[in-house]
Amino acid sequence: MRSGAAETPAWGSMTEEQIGRWQEVMDGVAGMLPDGAVSVLVDGGRHAEMFAGRLADRLQADGRRCVRPDGDGHRDGQGDGPEVRAPVPRTVTLAAGAGWRQRPPAGGWDVVIWLRTYRAANGDAEDGADIVLDLHDISWPVIRHVALHLAGHGDWFIAESRAFFGPRAATWDARFGDDGPAYADAIDEAALPDGACVVDVGCGTGRALPALRRAVGPAGKVIGVDLTPQMLAAARACDRGRHAVLMLADARRLPFADARFDAVFAAGLVQHMPDPAAGLAELARITRPGGRLVIFHPSGRAALAARHGRTLRPDEPLAPARLGPLLATAGWRLDTYDDPPHRFLALADRC
Ligand SMILES: C[S@@+](CC[C@H](N)C(=O)[O-])C[C@H]1O[C@@H](n2cnc3c(N)ncnc32)[C@H](O)[C@@H]1O
Repeated sequence: MRSGAAETPAWGSMTEEQIGRWQEVMDGVAGMLPDGAVSVLVDGGRHAEMFAGRLADRLQADGRRCVRPDGDGHRDGQGDGPEVRAPVPRTVTLAAGAGWRQRPPAGGWDVVIWLRTYRAANGDAEDGADIVLDLHDISWPVIRHVALHLAGHGDWFIAESRAFFGPRAATWDARFGDDGPAYADAIDEAALPDGACVVDVGCGTGRALPALRRAVGPAGKVIGVDLTPQMLAAARACDRGRHAVLMLADARRLPFADARFDAVFAAGLVQHMPDPAAGLAELARITRPGGRLVIFHPSGRAALAARHGRTLRPDEPLAPARLGPLLATAGWRLDTYDDPPHRFLALADRC
């Protein structure tokens, strides 16, 4: 049995905050693994072995037995997958490396963990993974996706979402700042009535807020909601609080009464929600019958996927075949769907 971190970074070279981040991620992943005998594959590039070693240490500290098959699964000749012995309660068989994909244990891997890194740039390889981690910055791992059957009540989501967007907040506008006219055009097309009460959910640094304020006029009300305190701080720093009331809240449980809003604006939100159907239902709850939903992104789905080295999948929440039914189940009627390279815009009405 092997254990420990075989690669950089050594704990000693990290700040306390970075060590805390690793511990939080390891606690989260260890806590998501089912209780019985379970087989886990860690894949996604050169850090797989290091990650599996750290996970093994974490599981053993919890009193779980951990078996580590040797090597990365690449072998001359096609042997069988690792032997997973007759279910010893709480034993985790933990393999690392792409080669094990083709050599699963009998019954397949129970949990596949994919590590996003620059080396493992093929974004499609993470399709079907049960847990996806962003490891572009090796000293700042972030859990980005957890399959619903492992996620319990989604308690992991708030800390991980903040860990992802928080460090990006200060430079968000510098990276994406010239998208302002695209937001304004989309909001024009949504034709929000003068005097409307509108909320931008997942408002980030508030890039849409000036255009939303212009659309509803001085008699209207604009609220910007985000889960990440640093995003709201960045919004205040560039004076976007002048256009809207800014609030820290979770889109999955909004602190608003039923039917309170005439319109909801959501840019770059729906695809980040762990359960998009439940998220869209919560947006429907706070919108009055006949009210509008504006789902926007300042690049089309194909262009965005290409930037991340992925091809589009038909089962993504914003895919044409998926979004209409998702919206219908959540209480919306899809009215407009536009997905050219330079933007994504879907408009829906509250039933
Ligand atoms: C891709 S950014 C988009 C920000 C902004 N809408 C824009 O277009 O620039 C996604 C934002 O949604 C926020 N977010 C993600 N999940 C959220 C949730 N459940 N509730 C509220 N905000 C959330 C993040 O903190 C982040 O600021």
